[in-house]
Amino acid sequence: MRALIVDPDAPGSLRLGTNAEPQAAPHQLVVDVRHISLNRGEVAFAGRLPAGTVHGYDAAGVVVRAATDGTGPAVGARVTAFGAGAWAQRMAVDTTAVAEVPAQVDLADAAALPMAGITALRTLRSRSILGRRVLITGAAGGVGRYAIQLAALGGAHVIASVGSSSRADGLAELGAHQVVVGLEGVDRPVDLILDNVGGQQLAAAWELLAPGGGVQNIGWASDEPAVFAPYSLVSVGPPKTMTTFGGVHEVGPDLATLLEFVAAGRLSPEVDWRGSWDRVTEASQALLDRRIAGKVAWMWSGRRPTDAPSRRAGGRASPPVPRSPGPSRCRDHGRERVVGDGRFVVGAVRAQGTASDCRSSRNQLLSPPLSAPLVADAGRRARGC
Ligand SMILES: NC(=O)c1ccc[n+]([C@@H]2O[C@H](COP(=O)([O-])OP(=O)(O)OC[C@H]3O[C@@H](n4cnc5c(N)ncnc54)[C@H](OP(=O)(O)O)[C@@H]3O)[C@@H](O)[C@H]2O)c1
Repeated sequence: MRALIVDPDAPGSLRLGTNAEPQAAPHQLVVDVRHISLNRGEVAFAGRLPAGTVHGYDAAGVVVRAATDGTGPAVGARVTAFGAGAWAQRMAVDTTAVAEVPAQVDLADAAALPMAGITALRTLRSRSILGRRVLITGAAGGVGRYAIQLAALGGAHVIASVGSSSRADGLAELGAHQVVVGLEGVDRPVDLILDNVGGQQLAAAWELLAPGGGVQNIGWASDEPAVFAPYSLVSVGPPKTMTTFGGVHEVGPDLATLLEFVAAGRLSPEVDWRGSWDRVTEASQALLDRRIAGKVAWMWSGRRPTDAPSRRAGGRASPPVPRSPGPSRCRDHGRERVVGDGRFVVGAVRAQGTASDCRSSRNQLLSPPLSAPLVADAGRRARGC
C-alpha cells in the first residue's frame, strides 16, 4: 500500500512510498484511509523518526476489518481515528481511539479533528472555565482555533493571542472576545493559559496568571528558549501551576463529542488547506511558515470516495457547517458568519434559549470530568444564561 514515510533525504523528511499492509492486534480495527490531516509537531519532527516509519496520527475513512475481540465499529462504518501510522492507505488502530462519523460530517473535516481537537478539549478540561479568563496563544493555528471555539462554548472569556495582526482574521467570529498580538493589551489577570508557542512569550504570559491559575504547556511553536526572571516562579497565596500535556490515550469518546459538535454546527473544523498527497511538501512548508489558518487536510489520490469534499483542491474555505437545528441556544456568546451559500454558528449558540438549554449544551461539550464543576459554577458565574 502507499504511505507517507520518513526519509531523512527527502524535503521535509517525508516522501510517498510503499509499506506492508498493517497487522491488526485483536483490539484493533483496520481503516481504509480516505483523508488525513497534518499537525505542526508531526511535520516539524518527522526527521527525528527512524527512516521508513509510516508517519502521522490523524485519519478518517471506512472500516474494512473489525477488531477480532468484538469491540469497536463494524465493517463499513465511517470513522475518524487517532494513532501512529495514519498517513497510509490503510491503518490499524485501537478501537478505543476511533469514533463513528455522523452522516452529515465530511470525512476530510473529521480527519482534521483528532490531534488538535483532542488537545484543545482536554486542556480546557483541566479546570472549570465558565466565566473565567482563558488566554490561548498560537490561537490562529490548528489547536488554537479549536480551543477558541470550545472555550467559548464552555462559557469562558476567551483571549486569543496571535503572532501578527494579519493572523487575527476570523478569530472573533470563532468566539474570541479579545484578539491580541503577542500579549499586548492583556491588562487583567487570566485564569488559564493554553500555551502553544513557548519562548519568551510564555515567561511573559506567566506573569499574567492569576493566583491559583494554571498554564497548560501544549507546544513550543516558537522554537525559542524561555527565561524566567528570578523568583517569578515563587509566590504566596494559591499556587500557580504549569503542566505539560500529552494525555492522548483512549480518545474515542472525546472524538465522538467533537464530532457531535461539528454535526450540530457548533464547532467548525477550520480546514484551511485541502489537496492531495502529492502536495505534501508544499502543505508542510506552508504550515511551518505560518501560512495556514487552522488545519491542513488531504485525501489520497486516485480514488473518488463518495464522501470526498467537492471543493477545489487547496481551497481556503471550510465547508459551511450545518446550522444547529436544536433549541439549545445561549444569549450573547454566539457569533454567526456566512460561508459560501451556507450559514453556521460558531462560538456558543445564539439567542432565544433558556438558561437550562444553555447549560445543558455546554455540559454536553464539557461532559465528565468538567461538567461537574461547570454545573456547580453555573448559578453564580453564568453570564447571559
Ligand atoms: N502536547 C501535545 O500533545 C500536542 C498536541 C498538539 C500540538 N502540540 C504542539 O502545539 C503547538 C501548536 O500546534 P498546532 O498544530 O496548533 O500548530 P500550528 O497550527 O502550526 O499553530 C502554531 C501557532 O503558533 C504560532 N507561532 C509559531 N511560531 C511563533 C512564534 N515564533 N511566535 C509566536 N507565535 C508563533 C503561529 O502563530 P501565527 O499564526 O499567529 O503566526 C501558529 O498559529 C505545536 O508546538 C505542536 O507541536 C502538542
